[in-house]
Amino acid sequence: MTSHKEPYQTPRGCHGASIPDITATGPEQESVMSWRERSGINPEGQIRLVKLSHMRYQHPDLEEITTFLQDFGMHVVKRTDDEVWYRGYGPDAYVYYARKGPKAALQLPNASGITELVNHPGGGHLVTVIDPEGYPVNLIHGQMSQQLGEYPERLSINYEMEKTRVRKFHRFNPGPAPVHKLGHFGYCVSDFPTMLNFYTQHFNLVPTDFLYIEKAGKKQTVAVFAHIDRGSTSVDHHTLFMMANETTHVHHCSFEVHDFDTQKLGHYWLARKGYKSVWGVGRHILGSQIFDYWWDRSGNMVEHYADGDVVTDETPIGYMPARNESLAIWGPEVPEEFIR
Ligand SMILES: [Fe+2]
Repeated sequence: MTSHKEPYQTPRGCHGASIPDITATGPEQESVMSWRERSGINPEGQIRLVKLSHMRYQHPDLEEITTFLQDFGMHVVKRTDDEVWYRGYGPDAYVYYARKGPKAALQLPNASGITELVNHPGGGHLVTVIDPEGYPVNLIHGQMSQQLGEYPERLSINYEMEKTRVRKFHRFNPGPAPVHKLGHFGYCVSDFPTMLNFYTQHFNLVPTDFLYIEKAGKKQTVAVFAHIDRGSTSVDHHTLFMMANETTHVHHCSFEVHDFDTQKLGHYWLARKGYKSVWGVGRHILGSQIFDYWWDRSGNMVEHYADGDVVTDETPIGYMPARNESLAIWGPEVPEEFIR
């Protein structure tokens, strides 16, 4: 018998914490400055991107894609016979543009030179740059920010010893998960080193994390999560996710929603409407987002995400092995069709 009380040891179990980027990145890391020097990148002459604003797609049936995108949480801001612009509740004039035509990620006609976006919401001027694998990067300057929509309320969460939500009950309305903004897109490319070089030399896109495979004892990078470098201003962990593949295609595009409950409400809304889930709900490791991937009616993958990491120019670049297990800390098994 002991006369004093032993301190109670909490049983080891699952655990979560918000930890500094330098610790979270792990042992294989490098500063942005070191990577720039090694890669011969001079930020002085780069095209300085500020943010990702919208995706451009071509769909055979605009009615069908409009119904899907409304169920996905966007609303129509402008429509013509063969074009539709959709926005979220953030400042962007539109987050998705659809044109009638065979399924494709869009290339603008008359892509060279400067085009004034006369009848587009928010206006502005557009220049299109074609990347080495033939895909267009549309650069917009001077687009007017829009009046913000209504932002969802922050929920008050009751923890074990901290019950701040007293006599306030949670109530939710089912419906589409309202989209805030376009956060990032995934891009499969055939010649990864050339494409990495193109995007990081010409634009202020900086790696946050690299994934590698080992071949004959040498590490070969096969995927990158890259952010828009805005110095000490915090930006999303990645705006572009690029990975080596047999073909060049857009893998998915991803839109921000409010929080975990919004994700789940949006998930069940899409499921009830009969759309096909790809993968989710789960939580990524790199970028930390709560994710939820769906097929639209044309067979493109679109994602809802919430609670993503943000980084600055002080965040180190991480290197880790490319494995399915590195994709999520929780969630359903990674389906075959996700890695295509
Ligand atoms: Fe994503």
